[in-house]
Amino acid sequence: MSKLILQGGRRLSGEIFVQGAKNSALPLLAATILGDSVSEIHNCPDLSDVDASINILQYLGCGISRSNNTVVVDPRGMFRYDIPDNLMREMRSSIVFLGAIVAKTGRARISFPGGCELGPRPIDLHLSSLRQLGVIIEEDHGYLDCRCEGRLKGAHITLSFPSVGATENIMLAAATAEGTTIISNPAREPEISDLADYLNSCGARIHGAGESTMYIEGVEKLSGTAHQVIPDRIAATTFMSAAAITGGSLVLREIVPSHLGPVIPVMEEMGCDIKVQGHELKITAPPRLKRVKIIRTLPYPGFPTDAQAPIMSLASVADGTSVFVENIFENRYKHVGELLRLGAKIKVEGRVAVVEGVPRLSGATVCAMDLRGGAALVIAGIAAEGITEVDGLHHIDRGYERIEETLNSIGAKITRVNE
Ligand code: UD1
Repeated sequence: MSKLILQGGRRLSGEIFVQGAKNSALPLLAATILGDSVSEIHNCPDLSDVDASINILQYLGCGISRSNNTVVVDPRGMFRYDIPDNLMREMRSSIVFLGAIVAKTGRARISFPGGCELGPRPIDLHLSSLRQLGVIIEEDHGYLDCRCEGRLKGAHITLSFPSVGATENIMLAAATAEGTTIISNPAREPEISDLADYLNSCGARIHGAGESTMYIEGVEKLSGTAHQVIPDRIAATTFMSAAAITGGSLVLREIVPSHLGPVIPVMEEMGCDIKVQGHELKITAPPRLKRVKIIRTLPYPGFPTDAQAPIMSLASVADGTSVFVENIFENRYKHVGELLRLGAKIKVEGRVAVVEGVPRLSGATVCAMDLRGGAALVIAGIAAEGITEVDGLHHIDRGYERIEETLNSIGAKITRVNE
């Protein structure tokens, strides 16, 4: 088990390049199997979730080569259509392979993804959407057995909730379906637009990604392409938060500032000065942050649920009381118990968390229970007086490329210990 040892109380300042977006890279890697030639995915972050996707691609029979942040996928040798349980368990979001595999091979067999650390994560929207496209799905001893007769058929699908994963699965399945698919109320996250850009560059005809209706005109075949993954808006928010909690300043290079649109006003409300110029953003924090009145997590372009935990660390030392309402996931306050160990004052009642800012946190041993909650503990530990030990580092490694190296480059003092 690996852990981080943090020496808190140091002001962070400097500049960093933000890694490619995990939540783009994963569906993009699944999409590479749809082409009839090689795809190059550039700016692909070096993360354990990316390793898990690559393991699946290799199991399916794809050729992979990987150097620095480029992954090259040759789907021409693909000969399997199933994903065994051990590979599914490595990463729940591998459900996004389902639409791609069934569109490519006419069959798919994957183990049913169960609950996870964020509470139950049902896949009813994925399955009902794929059924509307003509996929016959049977549940069999924890496995989903899927097949279709001939090509999938375009359909008009209305999502009752704009699920990110379900939207991606529909896009992957419908890109080569017969006829046009219309998605009403699709997810509008930037990662959805990134996937549409990739697929269009492979020959797909997708319009309206990022809007409230998406049109996917099915094409007979797709090729491979070269694609650059967008910068990770959640990693960007995490590093902005780390600088902000220390009263520091940070320049983020090569980001897409509009993707941070839902987060910037919150940080400004907390007293940070934020300047955007082209693909650069500079944040300068006050000596003590102010409370944020209320944060409600919502689908994009609302405030992202993935930023809830990092911003809660800021609120825990801000001047005044902040209120959070988590609307996306049922069980996304696991970091709260750990923040309490560091001296935070937080009360949770169902989906609402009330955070009474304290003047300072103090170091303790805490455990990352999930990815973004773990990042929140690192942020809190950077501000806490004394030494903080963050266990459960494997959760954080799912989504951040060597987080300690990035933070140390701007003045943090963090050591990784592999036991
Ligand atoms: C993706 C992101 C995750 C982010 C989340 C919300 C990836 C790899 N992960 O997860 O980081 O926190 O979007 O922005 O991109 N739901 C159903 N039925 C379904 C599908 C979803 O009820 O069939 C519910 C989920 O339980 C959850 C909510 O919808 O409560 C949001 O889920 P969804 O948007 O699908 O998130 P993911 O794609 O799993």
